[in-house]
Amino acid sequence: MNDNYKESFEKTRQAGVIAAGALKEVKKIIRPGITTEEIDKLCYEYINDNGAYSAPLFYRGFPKSCCTSANHIVCHGIPSDKILNEGDILNVDVTAFKDGWHGDTSKTFEIGEVSIKAKKLVKTTYEAMMKAIEIIREDICLGDIGAVIQDHVEQEGFSVVQDFCGHGIGEVFHKEPNVLHYGKKGTGQKLKTGMIFTIEPMINLGKFETKILNDGWTAVTKDKSLSAQFEHTVGVKADGCEVFTL
Ligand code: MF3
Ligand code: CO
Ligand code: CO
Repeated sequence: MNDNYKESFEKTRQAGVIAAGALKEVKKIIRPGITTEEIDKLCYEYINDNGAYSAPLFYRGFPKSCCTSANHIVCHGIPSDKILNEGDILNVDVTAFKDGWHGDTSKTFEIGEVSIKAKKLVKTTYEAMMKAIEIIREDICLGDIGAVIQDHVEQEGFSVVQDFCGHGIGEVFHKEPNVLHYGKKGTGQKLKTGMIFTIEPMINLGKFETKILNDGWTAVTKDKSLSAQFEHTVGVKADGCEVFTL
C-alpha cells in the first residue's frame, strides 16, 4: 500500500477546512441588502486570519478574493458594489492556499425567499454533486462521475454546463485531469488512490450554453436562465473518497 499521498491529503485538508470556514462566515452575513464586495472582504479577512491566502486574488489577473455569481451568472462573477435582493441566488466560490496547497469549495446561497424553480435548481445541483461524491473510489472512471451528474440533472429537466469543469488541484490551483460534469459511464481515465480533484457542477435552468462578458471573466447563461453551482475538493481512496472542504 502506497502511503505517499497521506501528506498531500493532510495539506489539502488544512486548506480545505479554511475555505469551508469562509463559506460558514458568509452564511452568517448573507441577506438582502448586502453587496458582493462585503462578502469578498469577509472571505479575504477570514482566509488571511487563518494563515492562508485567497488563491483567486490576482490569479491570471482576477481582481478579487472570491467569485460571486448571482442568478444567470454561471461562474467567475466579480464581487462589486451590486446589492443582493430578496429572491436572488448567489454562488460564492472560495479557494484557500495554505502551506503550498489548495482547497477549493463553493455553495449557492438563497437570498431570503426564492422562487420554487430556483429552490429546485439549487437542490438538484447540490444532489448532483453529492451523488458524484458518493460513487468516487479507486478504479471508477471519470466518465462515471459525469454520467451520474448528467443523469440526475437531466431527469429534473435542467442542463449541465459544458464550458467549465472540475479540475485536479494540489500545489497547483488548476491541473489535470479535467473533471467533466457530463459523460458516459465506463469512459475516460480510471481514478487512482491519492488523486485530488474538484467536483463543481454548474447547472442551468434553461439551456447549457454560456458566454463570457466583456470583463473577460463573468460567464453567464446565453439564454439568461438561472444557474447554480456547488463545489467540493475530494481525495480518492481505495474504498471511497475524503471530502476536504466540509
Ligand atoms: N474557484 C474557481 C474554481 O472552482 C476558480 C476561480 S479562478 C478565478 O476553479 F480567477 F476566477 F478566481
Ligand atoms: Co474549482
Ligand atoms: Co472554486
